[in-house]
Amino acid sequence: MEIYVCIGSSCHLKGSYAIINGFKDLIAQNQLEDKVNLNASFCLGRCQDGVTIKIDDQIVTGLNPDNVKEVFEERVLKEIK
Ligand code: FES
Repeated sequence: MEIYVCIGSSCHLKGSYAIINGFKDLIAQNQLEDKVNLNASFCLGRCQDGVTIKIDDQIVTGLNPDNVKEVFEERVLKEIK
């Protein structure tokens, strides 16, 4: 599974790096390093919608440090297990 976190300027200002770190920790805690690749991405075209990520082909917007765990559980853990 591929996760792309947008680091375009708008998402960057809204805190992409906290989201990248959040995913990094969650991947490590769940020992999914060989199953999930975390990547940075250029603008995903949803700048108005908060920090944007793409999980495989699915766009998810409005990421923040409070919901990153929930998004991870719903979109990553459930898909993998
Ligand atoms: S900068 Fe992230 S969607 Fe445009």
